[in-house]
Amino acid sequence: MVTWGSNSKAGDLLENLRKKLVSGARDVSKNAYAPYSGYHVGAALMTTEGNIFTGTNVENSSYGATICAERGAIMNAVATQGPTMRISAIAVMTSSSPPAAPCGECLQVLVEFAPDEALVFLANQKGEVTTYSLKELLPKAFRQDTLQNRHP
Ligand code: THU
Repeated sequence: MVTWGSNSKAGDLLENLRKKLVSGARDVSKNAYAPYSGYHVGAALMTTEGNIFTGTNVENSSYGATICAERGAIMNAVATQGPTMRISAIAVMTSSSPPAAPCGECLQVLVEFAPDEALVFLANQKGEVTTYSLKELLPKAFRQDTLQNRHP
């Protein structure tokens, strides 16, 4: 888990970022389309340019066609900022306790657009928040350079 001193300037900045993204994720989770699971998820990410994009889970009667909140936010960000979009932090709001981490598929898509040190804030409606780096959640990620480093 990532922790930081409460009395430092960097600590204050990170605290503000956390609050902003968690509140965005909470707000957007109200728009979740989850008639099958009843599990509402909201995600809010900040790009390296400082823009915030949000997403909710959108379920489908053909269950496998469901899109998670995190991937919704990422698609939104790429569609608006273009292919060079990169993520510095993301918050995910669920009703699980302890707060739930993104699923494996969402972590893999995050890795495509975020560095190892990107922050992932896991939050729930009770007010619990835990903070991880992306690398902590997916330590042995399959990345672009994995493809580039193959043998001929
Ligand atoms: N879900 C997300 O939105 N994000 C995740 O990372 C895990 C799961 C959604 C998908 C589905 O609508 C509901 O949560 C239950 O799996």
